[in-house]
Amino acid sequence: MTEPTILAIESSCDETSAAVIRGGKVLSNIIATQAVHEKYGGVVPELASRAHQQNIIPVVSQALLTANVTKSELNAVAFTKGPGLLGALLVGCSFAKSFALGLNIPLIEVNHMQAHILAHFIEDPKPSFPFLCLTVSGGHTQIVLVKDHLDMEIIGQTTDDAVGEAFDKTAKMLGLPYPGGPMLDKAAATGNPEAFQFPVGNMPGYNFSFSGIKTSVLYFLKEKSKDNPGFAQENMADICASVQQTLIKTLLKKLVQASKDLGIKEIAIAGGVSANSGLRKTLQDYAVKYKWNVYIPAFQYCTDNAAMIAMASHFQYLKSDFATQYVSPEPRMKF
Ligand code: KG4
Ligand code: ZN
Repeated sequence: MTEPTILAIESSCDETSAAVIRGGKVLSNIIATQAVHEKYGGVVPELASRAHQQNIIPVVSQALLTANVTKSELNAVAFTKGPGLLGALLVGCSFAKSFALGLNIPLIEVNHMQAHILAHFIEDPKPSFPFLCLTVSGGHTQIVLVKDHLDMEIIGQTTDDAVGEAFDKTAKMLGLPYPGGPMLDKAAATGNPEAFQFPVGNMPGYNFSFSGIKTSVLYFLKEKSKDNPGFAQENMADICASVQQTLIKTLLKKLVQASKDLGIKEIAIAGGVSANSGLRKTLQDYAVKYKWNVYIPAFQYCTDNAAMIAMASHFQYLKSDFATQYVSPEPRMKF
C-alpha cells in the first residue's frame, strides 16, 4: 500500500481545524480559534456552528496548501464524529461527507477522546503498550487503559463535572476572562498552593467528582468577601494556586492508584487540561518519585486540533475502518 494521505477535520467545539497526514506523518495542522465566544464568557453552541461554517473552507484550503497536497492525492477524508456539540459536529461531518463523496474516496469517523490520546503518536517519544492515559478536557475526565492504538478501555471517569469545567467555572467566579483554564493557570504561577484548603469528593475506584469544589470555592469567596469585597482580587494568585493544586492532586491520586494496581509505569496525559503547567510539572515530579515514563504532548496537540484526528484516522485507514455516507454526529459518543 502506498502511504495513505488523509485530510482530517475537527469541529467538535470552538476550534475549526484541518490537518493533512501522509504515511502517519502530519504535514499540516491549521487551527482557527473562535474569538466570538470571549464576550459571553463561554462557548455559545449556535455561534460555534456558524463560525465553523465560515472557517471550514479557508481552513481546509490552508491545510492542503501548507501540506503541498492536492485534492486528487487524498486517499480518505476523516472527521470528528463525537463527542462534542451537535451543531458544531454537523458542520465538520457534512463537509467531510461531501468532500469524500465528490472525490469518491473513503470517509473515516473519529472519536475525539481517542484522538486526544493518539496525539501521542504524532511525535517522539511514543508510549509503549499498555499505557495509562489521564485524559482531561473541558467535557471529560478519564483514566484510560490503552492496549493498542484502537483498543482502549475507560477504567475511571468523572461522575459529574469534567476537570476542565472545574477550572473554567472557578476562573469565572474569580472574574477571570474566558477561556478560564489557561487564565487560572497563569494567575496560579506566582501563588502559594498551600494558602487555602478546598475539599474534593472521594469517589470509589478510579472515578472522580469535581462538582463539589465549585460550590466550596463559591461559598469560600462569599464568606471572605463579606468583610472585604476586594478579597478575591487581593488574593487571586494564592486562590488560583490552591484550587489548581487541589485539582491536580485529585487527578494524580487516582492515577497513582491505577498504576500501582495494574503494574503499569507508562503514563501519559492528554486533552486540553494537559496544557496546564502545574499538572505538567507535578507529573514530571511523580515520574521521578514513582519511576514512571511520562508522556506529555506538545502544547499544540493538547487542546483541540485536527492533527490528532488525522493520527487516529491513519490507524483506522490501515484497518479499513471506513464510515458510510449515512453516518451522523454523536454528541455523546463513547468508546
Ligand atoms: O480538549 P479541549 O481543548 O476541548 C475539549 O475537548 O473539551 O479542552 C478544553 C479545556 C477547557 O476547559 C480549558 O479551560 C482547559 O482545557 N485548558 C486548561 C489549560 N488550557 C486549556 N486548563 C487548565 N490549564 C490550562 N493551561
Ligand atoms: Zn478536546
